Amino acid sequence: MCSILGLAGDHDIASTLIESLKKMEYRGYDSVGVAIKDKSDILVKKGVGKVNVVNHDLSMDKMSGFTGIGHTRWATHGKVTKENAHPHMCNTNSVGVVHNGIIENYVELRKDLENNHGITFKSSTDTEVIPNLLQIYFERLHDVKKAIMATVKKLKGHYAFVALFKTGELAGVKNHEPLILGVGRTDLLLTSDVVGLPDDISSAIYLENNQFVIIKERKHKIFDFEGNVAQFVVKTIPKNYQNVTKESHKYFTEKEIFEQPETILVAGNDEEHLDKIADLIHNSDYVYVTGSGTSYNIAVIAKYLFSRFAGKKVEHVMASEAKYSSQYLIPNSTLFAISQSGESADVLEAVSIGKKKNFKIISMINSENSSLARESVFSIGLNCGPEIGVAATKSFTSQMAILYKIVNKLCDGCIDVNFKVISEAYASILSDVSEIQKLVKDIKDIQNLFVIGRGIHYPIAKEAALKIKEITYIHSEGIAAGELKHGPLALMDGSAYVLVINPDDDSYVDNISTVNEIKSRDAKVIGVSNKPDANYDYWIPIPTVDPALYPLVEIVSLQLIAYYLAVERGIDPDYPKNLAKSVTVK
Ligand code: G6P
Repeated sequence: MCSILGLAGDHDIASTLIESLKKMEYRGYDSVGVAIKDKSDILVKKGVGKVNVVNHDLSMDKMSGFTGIGHTRWATHGKVTKENAHPHMCNTNSVGVVHNGIIENYVELRKDLENNHGITFKSSTDTEVIPNLLQIYFERLHDVKKAIMATVKKLKGHYAFVALFKTGELAGVKNHEPLILGVGRTDLLLTSDVVGLPDDISSAIYLENNQFVIIKERKHKIFDFEGNVAQFVVKTIPKNYQNVTKESHKYFTEKEIFEQPETILVAGNDEEHLDKIADLIHNSDYVYVTGSGTSYNIAVIAKYLFSRFAGKKVEHVMASEAKYSSQYLIPNSTLFAISQSGESADVLEAVSIGKKKNFKIISMINSENSSLARESVFSIGLNCGPEIGVAATKSFTSQMAILYKIVNKLCDGCIDVNFKVISEAYASILSDVSEIQKLVKDIKDIQNLFVIGRGIHYPIAKEAALKIKEITYIHSEGIAAGELKHGPLALMDGSAYVLVINPDDDSYVDNISTVNEIKSRDAKVIGVSNKPDANYDYWIPIPTVDPALYPLVEIVSLQLIAYYLAVERGIDPDYPKNLAKSVTVK
């Protein structure tokens, strides 16, 4: 989603702001812009494209001034154009705003501002109403605090924004979208995520919903929307969230895939919370598991793992669909919400639906300060460090590892899972990617790639297909292998490619029959398996492990196929078009 930044320092801040914007690009990268207050005016520079490109053209980092705001956009309202890029200024050029989220009533606000206040709009965004409202109220009330309180009374929807006033104040407002105030020795930085903080800021205040902060002469005051002074806690930012770099890797996606031998060892390393979560699941009559995208695939995997190994029925609910099936959700149940970011709007909505039904909320998150963690009675951390690549990779294996740990508690250790063995299996896959590199060279121009698997390998097939479409732009579908004959077989011919997830477990024999059916129609088969087969046109070998553990292992080879295919097709896998890492709108 969009990233918003506001920086107040005692030096020219433009270059620091640009460095922070680069770190925040994973939230949106359609366009970028900054507004800096110099001695008398607010100057704006913005353009379409990534930070480096726009900065190269406009030298945003050379602007002078001690206070400024910045934005990277993931378009919601209005096309990807310079006019729609943030910051947006009010008509008198005295207030600039960067915004994340949606102003639901912007059409009526816009009409009112046009008809009754003579405001002319320059963009088609919902954002532009905010600086104009702030300016009108500021002119009327002569006070930034009062102007913000009056403005937020008018706005509907979930949003966070940062406003820069010509009078020198910087203000940040939070309403259901993330906003954090980094507190440094000289600088104060408002940001959507701690990842945006410069290296020398290691403390931060997480604003609560319906709070705003006003920064003047580098001093900050926090208020609630009623104007009362708010209490706050200054937290220390974990070291691994500061100065996140690609290290020796070409892309964050590659780095994150290759980190998995280490991250798998620390996933959910908190016995107390694992016990609490396992107890709650054990004692609940009904358990729903929810998530979006990759995290939803984990919810489906949870259903297979819990029922097969712990005899516990859990039901998965796609977060974005929760409100359409809420009448079927049984009150007083447990909702296990899964989200890497802990900020996905759809997941938070599912949680709020659950709360209305008196659900107990438990969660799996990667950031202990995320909104989801704060909504939960217990959370368990992935501990896999910041994930920047838009396609979730290491967070997926960490989420799965935590599921295995919880299930093992419910079934008294019935799964023989040793994460050192898994880590070694990862290291072995990552140490030789030659077969995958050969494969992607051959298939780089295909239009469709079907991924099939049975049982628990079906959601893994869905996850692999999601990775492939996200970062390679090849159409890919994850299909339950047995369903191929009920429709998709019509698509098999000499030009079709099918990737079969085929470890040597109880799905193996049936899969080989399906492979034969595919081969009879001349389609090409890519087998991801610990056993070769004469019918495979390509064999991507995986290590042999306990049959219960193949889902944890095979996914790494599938991530690598998607990654190297993206690179082979000349696509930057970290920033696939139209997507964002953390989707904080519905
Ligand atoms: C976005 C990302 C996906 C991710 C999904 C859920 O759509 O592009 O990669 O799986 O959000 O994210 P979450 O942070 O809730 O796990």
